[in-house]
Amino acid sequence: MPTPNGTNDFIVIKAVDDGVSVIGLTRGTDTRFHHTEKLDRGEVMIAQFTEHTSAIKIRGNAKIYTSIAELNSESKK
Ligand code: TRP
Repeated sequence: MPTPNGTNDFIVIKAVDDGVSVIGLTRGTDTRFHHTEKLDRGEVMIAQFTEHTSAIKIRGNAKIYTSIAELNSESKK
């Protein structure tokens, strides 16, 4: 199904450490968390932006692959 920006892009998140959080934020005037997924080391989540999800926040050490960038998120400690 196309995402609201007209693409079918997926983002891939692979946890480098235990306890990575993938947090979906709502689309629309009210921006709030609507889903939190916990990943342990080696676990992968494949996700899209949808009519419900306009932003994704990733907390903890993870590798993130998207069509515009491949990058690592890092935790403070
Ligand atoms: N029910 C959510 C939705 O359709 C599921 C989801 C899609 C999601 N992409 C996400 C949850 C990214 C967290 C992060 O939007």
